This record gives sequence, C-alpha cells and structure tokens, in this order.
Amino acid sequence: MKKNIAVVPLLLSRNKTLAAKMFYGFYKIGKTQFFPKHDYNFNHFKNLALVYFKLTPACNLRCVMCGQYGDKGIMNNCAAEETKKILPLEIWKKFIDEIAPQRPVTYIWGGEPFLYPDLFPLARYMVEKGLYVSVNTNGTLMERHAEQIVRDKWSTLFVSLDAFRDVNDALRGKGAYDKVIAGFRAINREKQKQKSKIPMLGIVTVVTNKNYMDLDNLAEATREYNLDLHIFNLGTYTNDNIVATQRRFMQEKLDTDIDCLDAYNTGYNLGIDAQKLHNILQNIHCKNFGHPMITVPVLNPEKTHTYYADLETPVRNHCIVPWCQTNIDYNGDVHFCADYPDYILGNITQQSFKEIYNNDRANRFRKVIHSCEGGMFPGCLRCYQNMLFGKKIKGY
Ligand SMILES: C[S@@+](CC[C@H](N)C(=O)[O-])C[C@H]1O[C@@H](n2cnc3c(N)ncnc32)[C@H](O)[C@@H]1O
Ligand code: SF4
Repeated sequence: MKKNIAVVPLLLSRNKTLAAKMFYGFYKIGKTQFFPKHDYNFNHFKNLALVYFKLTPACNLRCVMCGQYGDKGIMNNCAAEETKKILPLEIWKKFIDEIAPQRPVTYIWGGEPFLYPDLFPLARYMVEKGLYVSVNTNGTLMERHAEQIVRDKWSTLFVSLDAFRDVNDALRGKGAYDKVIAGFRAINREKQKQKSKIPMLGIVTVVTNKNYMDLDNLAEATREYNLDLHIFNLGTYTNDNIVATQRRFMQEKLDTDIDCLDAYNTGYNLGIDAQKLHNILQNIHCKNFGHPMITVPVLNPEKTHTYYADLETPVRNHCIVPWCQTNIDYNGDVHFCADYPDYILGNITQQSFKEIYNNDRANRFRKVIHSCEGGMFPGCLRCYQNMLFGKKIKGY
C-alpha cells in the first residue's frame, strides 16, 4: 500500500495557500518528532502546531462505535447537562487571538460542531485571523449551510461516512447517508456558483467489523462528488486489560482517574478478516478515484491482523502530542489528548493558554510520558492521534 506521503503533491496542487498553511503546521510537528524538547523551562507554546476545538458535546446522531455516544459512550447519560457548559463566542475569540500568531492548524469537532450556536461567526473569525480551519462533521446539517460555508472560506470539511447507504445508516442512523450526499452536492453547487475551490471536501471512514467489507462500495459510490481526499481510519479500540492497566498507571503516576478510554472498549474490532480488509484497501489504493486515498495508519499487510486482534501490541509509539498539540473542550478545559480528555491542564476561562501549556501539570505529563517505555502510555495503543503522528515501530 502506498505511503500517505505519496498524496502530498496532489494535495499541494489543489490549493497552494491552504497547502502552505497546512504544511507549516506539519513542519512544526515534524520538528517536534525529530527534536523533542525535554527541557521543561522551554516555552512549548512556540511549537503549537495543531489545535482541536471540541465546541460542543451535543450530537444529533448516536453512532454505535463512538466514544461519546456509542455503545459505551461517556456522554450517553449526561449530554444535556454538559451541553449547558459550552463556551460563549467571546471566550473562543480571545483564545484565537492568543494562538493565531503561532499559526497552528485548527480542527473543529464535537459532538456535532454544527450544533454549536456560534459556529459560523467563530469559523469566520478564525479565517480572518489567517488560520487553516478544518471542520469534522457528521455532514447531516451541511446542505442547509452550504452557501455560507463556501462564502466564509472554510479550509476543509472532513465528513464522516462509514459505508454505502444501508451499512452506513445501520451504524450512524437512518437517513444519514443521503443527508451527507445532499450536503456534498450543495457544497459543490456553491463552489461552482461562487467560483471557489474551497472548502476542500474529504470523507473520514472509521473501519469496524460492521463496515470493512463495504469500503470499496463507499469509495465507488462517492467518486462523483468532487472530493479532495478520503481517509480510512483503522479505528480506536481497547480492551478490559488495557483499560485496567492504564487506570492503575494514571492513578499512580499522575493522580488521575480515567473515564474515557473504556468508551472504546466496544468489540467492533473483533472478527475482522485482516487479509480481506488488506485486499479491499489495496484495491482501493490501486484505483484512480481522482482524489487521494489515505489509510491511518498504513500497516505492513501482515500486521493488519495484529492491529485488530492483538490490541496490546503497539504499532506506533513515541507520542509527540504533548509537545505540539492541544484539545480545548467545550467548557474551556485544556487537554493534550482529544479522545481521552481525563487529565486537565487548566481552563482557558481562568488563565492564558500559554501559561496553561507551560504549567507544572503540563510538564509533569510530558515527563511521565517521556519516561515510559517507547515514549507512550500503556493505554494509548490504538489512539488516533498517535496513529497519525507516532513513530512507526519497525516491521509494522
Ligand atoms: C467523535 S466525531 C465528532 C465529529 C462529528 N460528530 C462526526 O461524526 O464527524 C469525530 C470523528 O471520530 C470518529 N469516530 C467515531 N468513533 C470512532 C472510533 N471508535 N475510532 C476512531 N474514530 C471514531 C467519527 O467517525 C468522526 O470522524
Ligand atoms: S456523529 Fe460524531 S459525535 Fe455524534 S455520535 Fe456519531 S461519531 Fe459520535
């Protein structure tokens, strides 16, 4: 299977200004990978390359594998209460003023970001500040906002689709597939009307035992929608033993209990025929869909089985997230980890982000991770951020 780096020239050719902004972020991530700063007086804020904005915990879908609303989702019983805690626009703007000079890539997500009441003024402000603004959405509310999305010059839409219609809707909810397709059509129409090349349009597909046989159907069915990329995310999974080990570890080393990791202990990794999955992905990668196909992580074919059947074997390690990335939660809490937001560094309603990012709690986390075998916590074996930016383990 082709390495993901092979898609770089294609992406570059789509929109040079956006590509330059994106690659500045990736350059900073690369610098952190090669020259990690273990000097704890260092101003880590300078290296900020990627900021996740989790605008709201509210969501209009209930996808079965989701860490927030899936079978074991942490939001299942508290979504309404938690949604009351969302930050007002003014706080987000102040935060953006602080981080914009570092020119990080930004990634808006949720819950469903279209349910954040001030999504549009916020994204507009970010674009005005010159940031690369990407939005990860379930796409069901995209059609009605297409005109404004294009007018406001969002950089990229990462739209979640997991399979062709029936299989997708069994995972994500009835009617979800058709709403996304209507959204793609509307965005394309608006791009033509407004003579705009942006936002770039991408699909993100999470691979589970329920959809892996249908990935090629999805790729075929969506080839006509003028996409810019399609990412196949092999999925975040864990098991009882990993959760227990991580819980002990975090309590011992960082005085933190953990709630989030178990949400990925869903079993949707089980029974995947790795050879079949590899063949399907290989087949997709060999065809020309007119847009790049990206698998995260790219694995040696013999190791696809390990990824799903042996969750305790690492495939990537040396997590660099605490040195160049951050996730800001809907209530202003600052974390390093987007999917496991258990360890809180501080809150942007109370302190400047720069202070938080360089504070003792942040440095304690960095020190502990640096002292771990392979530079990674025992619970992070299939973490998506580490699959994207971690170090490839030899043979995998
Ligand atoms: C939690 S959602 C939030 C944004 C939006 N609601 C959406 O669905 O795109 C962020 C991304 O995580 C993906 N996701 C859900 N469950 C996952 C899992 N178990 N492993 C990896 N990614 C997952 C979703 O498909 C989506 O692309
Ligand atoms: S749409 Fe996104 S946040 Fe909502 S349940 Fe699905 S994956 Fe989770």
